Amino acid sequence: MRKLAAGNWKMNGTRASLSEVEAINAALDDTDPTVVICPPASLLIPACEIGGKISIGAQDCHMASCGAHTGDISASQIADTGATYVIVGHSERRTDHSETNDVIKAKAQAAQKAGLIAIVCIGETLAEREAGETLAVLGQQMSGSIPDGATSQNTVIAYEPVWAIGTGLVPTLDQIDEAHRFMRDELLTTLGADAQNVSLLYGGSVKGSNADDIFSVSDVDGALVGGASISAHDFVPIIKALSRA
Ligand code: 13P
Repeated sequence: MRKLAAGNWKMNGTRASLSEVEAINAALDDTDPTVVICPPASLLIPACEIGGKISIGAQDCHMASCGAHTGDISASQIADTGATYVIVGHSERRTDHSETNDVIKAKAQAAQKAGLIAIVCIGETLAEREAGETLAVLGQQMSGSIPDGATSQNTVIAYEPVWAIGTGLVPTLDQIDEAHRFMRDELLTTLGADAQNVSLLYGGSVKGSNADDIFSVSDVDGALVGGASISAHDFVPIIKALSRA
């Protein structure tokens, strides 16, 4: 698995939105890459029931497998819905819920244990980029939040610059290239040859209109898409761009 188009619906979508999952599914053929939709937890079961080529993922999990954690969902509960992926460490979780690298590592470990593929998110803030700290931040986030036991089969890494999320701002292709090369090199030192098989996604204001350019960057294996993943009209062109890449 290298090419992967993932959609993060965040706190958007009701049952009426399942028709979009159906429409995305209907647009896929055998030449398309792996496609994952991460709807809100309320839609995991009906989204899985749609079947077809699409895989389903959750947007977060608790680090424990069960217990007194009101409002949380565990990785094994996610697996029980039929979902196969879970996003961990999204910057909105890091910010809104004060999640640290240690917490994210524990969540990714819980995902591994439950047999889910963890999409581990990393990315610098604008202040960090302007201070010239981007690669240092990415290095800390990778070493801090990717657990032992990570392999290309259970882990995907998404580079999402915080300042590019939902803003319409996109890094230059050189900036994306620099970040993704760095990520691949870091993985080579920790995972060895298997690093070449890990899917590295770019996320932040990906649209049909910029997808071809972004996917032309050599170590970009796909995208983690927010706003443009909620409708088939916007997401399918991104998937098709990845097919062409
Ligand atoms: P946008 O595609 O809406 O910028 O969101 C990116 C993102 O946060 C995906 O996880």
